[in-house]
Amino acid sequence: MLGCDCCCISSFVYLVGLLAIASKVVPFLVKKFKGNKPVELQEKDYKKDVVYLYQFGGTPTASSLSPFCIKVEAFLRLHSIKFERRNTFTGRGQNNLLPFIELNGEHHSDSQIIVRRLTQIFKLKTYQDEQSAAIGHAVDRLLDNHTFNLILMAKQPVVGKVVEAGAVGVPAFLMPLVSTLGGYFMGQQMAARGATSVGKFNEVDRNELLRNDLLQLQTILGKKKFLLAEEPTTVDCTALGQFGSAYFAVPSARFHLHNLIESSEFAPLKEYLERVKTRIYGNEFCDNK
Ligand SMILES: *[C@@H]1O[C@H](CO)[C@@H](O)[C@H](O)[C@H]1NC(C)=O
Repeated sequence: MLGCDCCCISSFVYLVGLLAIASKVVPFLVKKFKGNKPVELQEKDYKKDVVYLYQFGGTPTASSLSPFCIKVEAFLRLHSIKFERRNTFTGRGQNNLLPFIELNGEHHSDSQIIVRRLTQIFKLKTYQDEQSAAIGHAVDRLLDNHTFNLILMAKQPVVGKVVEAGAVGVPAFLMPLVSTLGGYFMGQQMAARGATSVGKFNEVDRNELLRNDLLQLQTILGKKKFLLAEEPTTVDCTALGQFGSAYFAVPSARFHLHNLIESSEFAPLKEYLERVKTRIYGNEFCDNK
């Protein structure tokens, strides 16, 4: 099965161990030992006003596999805040998730909170006025908590390829197994998460809803260069996060989103995605910064 040889059993044990550790044991232990005490600083010798960004690693075509990590880095770049990217597989923030940041000896977790704290600490003007800030917030939540979950569900058939892209350091002979089993289990988990978050749909309905989100986004964009203005705002960082991880990060993991974005209907949206990527990251939208 799965083209594996004599190492089948040990590979299987290796993989199950790896997956279990990554998804359950690490967060559990972190919680058990740290409780709700403040998490310990990773960078004790920090430089003033430099953001240390702890995140999931990326690929040759995306700075991270996680939409929320990309969003935070995009925001840092947009506002020319000095930062250092720290890829981690097992590190977790106060909320047991990634990304988290450290800034001037303080820990902040959850991308939405991180962006708010950075805005406050650096006294940033992130939108041109209150009305666009309000719309920005609504679209930001649409992307991160609706479109995101539709994408999670649509992505299920190609999760194995994404797992492969993220499984750095795994020996090549284990890859087929890691990709198949990891893809299966993570795909199940992602689909379940999507279903609780936005609803249980059949494929036709789900595709219709995903297309509808893209349509609304493209309508909001209109003839502007960025979603709410001629210059990027916070919500463009959110959009780059979602589409950067789902569309750009693993080109071989093609799913329905790719068909939509590459259809003539969404040509303006596709141009926008390329524009926001280049405007914020230049040619550095990749893992090796
Ligand atoms: C909502 O978005 C936040 C990022 O701002 C993310 O951490 C969270 O998992 C999302 N929740 C759901 C149910 O999609």
